[in-house]
Amino acid sequence: MTKYVINGGKTLNGEVTISGAKNAAVAIVPAALLADGPVRLENVPKIIDVTLQMEIMRELGAQIRQINATTVEIQNTQNPSLKPHELERKLRASYYLLGVLLGKYGFAEVAMPGGCNFGGVRPIDQHIKGFEALGAKVTLPKGGYIRVEAPEDGLHGAHIYFDVVTVGATMNIMLAAVLAKGQTIMENCAKEPHIVDLANFLNAMGADVKGAGTDVIKIRGVESLHGGSYSIIPDQIEAGTFMAAVAACGGSVLVKNVIPRHLECITAKLREMSVEVTEFDDAVLVRREGKLTKTNIKTLPYPGFPTDMQPQMTTALCLAEGTSIITEGIWGSRYRYTEELTRMGANIHVDGAIAVVEGVKELNGAPVRAHDLRAGAAMVIAGLAAKGVTEVEQVQNIERGYETLVEKFVALGADMYRSEIPESAENK
Ligand code: EPZ
Repeated sequence: MTKYVINGGKTLNGEVTISGAKNAAVAIVPAALLADGPVRLENVPKIIDVTLQMEIMRELGAQIRQINATTVEIQNTQNPSLKPHELERKLRASYYLLGVLLGKYGFAEVAMPGGCNFGGVRPIDQHIKGFEALGAKVTLPKGGYIRVEAPEDGLHGAHIYFDVVTVGATMNIMLAAVLAKGQTIMENCAKEPHIVDLANFLNAMGADVKGAGTDVIKIRGVESLHGGSYSIIPDQIEAGTFMAAVAACGGSVLVKNVIPRHLECITAKLREMSVEVTEFDDAVLVRREGKLTKTNIKTLPYPGFPTDMQPQMTTALCLAEGTSIITEGIWGSRYRYTEELTRMGANIHVDGAIAVVEGVKELNGAPVRAHDLRAGAAMVIAGLAAKGVTEVEQVQNIERGYETLVEKFVALGADMYRSEIPESAENK
């Protein structure tokens, strides 16, 4: 097993280049199977979730060539062997294969989604509601698989109203509907940048998707999608993670390859915390020299404050002057990581969806665990800001969604490294 060893207390200075967006890539990479010709994708992040998806796609018969570090070429075959795959259990985002394979072949059987284990069960009732509206039969055969089958004459357009704003269902129904017969209207859609990125990708391959980024998305089904090339947007959450790290540690960092508009709510909150953020065309300069000051945060669907930035910002607020109130508006309670912060000297009181953070003078290094992807990023930020040594275990949860995180922080002056723990030592 691997852990990160961090000797904290240093400021962060220099430049970091942000990778392609994980939550766009995990939908766009499988979506390439919808196209009949070769699809070239650029700015694909080299992260475990995407690597796992490409393994599953190869099992389904796709040819995938790594052109360079961040560019892949995907050529679908016409008749994949559709079989469940144990890898899918590890991936929340494997459920996008449901929409893709249903849309392309009229059938899919995918393992129940895995992914981050916070906030209890991760429901998919809205995905099922959308697939059934398009005419598919959805069954939950034993063994934790979901099976979707289109009618003989194929999927047909539908008018779907989502009961909750859901990124996954908005993406999944879009994937299934682009080749369906007729028009599909989806209402109460999620508006995240990665939703727009998926729609832009599908349209570049010949689809007809309008309204992505608003509450209402209209899709006119087309006969087929052709190949082409597309570059995935930069990752707003990775960028925000580095911005929160500068807030916690102090220093001055130019965060490059970003779309500042996607970072507006994060920038606004950091400025309330007395962090200086200067916006350029495709970069932001983040500086914190003086004291951090408190603020309140409520996570909401985009363009509200992103839930995937909640652990990182809460960690920075542990070191702010004053008391901050955090409200988790998406996942019920996403605060398991605060137990680890408390062991480092943080003063946090959690009650359901609310966390009350009393700023403290400093955090002290300690052995901690990365319970999930963004909680793990928060542990790294805490370790970088703390006095003394922090060891972060279960870092595979971090490397699911962050490309070369250690190398990027070391380039900013962090004293941290990856250490391999022999299996035997792990069980002590
Ligand atoms: C996506 O998860 C992201 N994952 C999550 O990021 C992110 O936290 C979440 O969107 C919200 O932005 C990927 O994109 C792979 P949802 P998803 O469907 O699609 C409820 C990370 O750190 N809901 O938008 O699973 C659900 O319980 C990960 O990168 C239903 O009730 O989230 C939640 O309260 C963690 N029924 C809310 O909607 C459904 O059928 C939002 O969930 C689906 C969702």
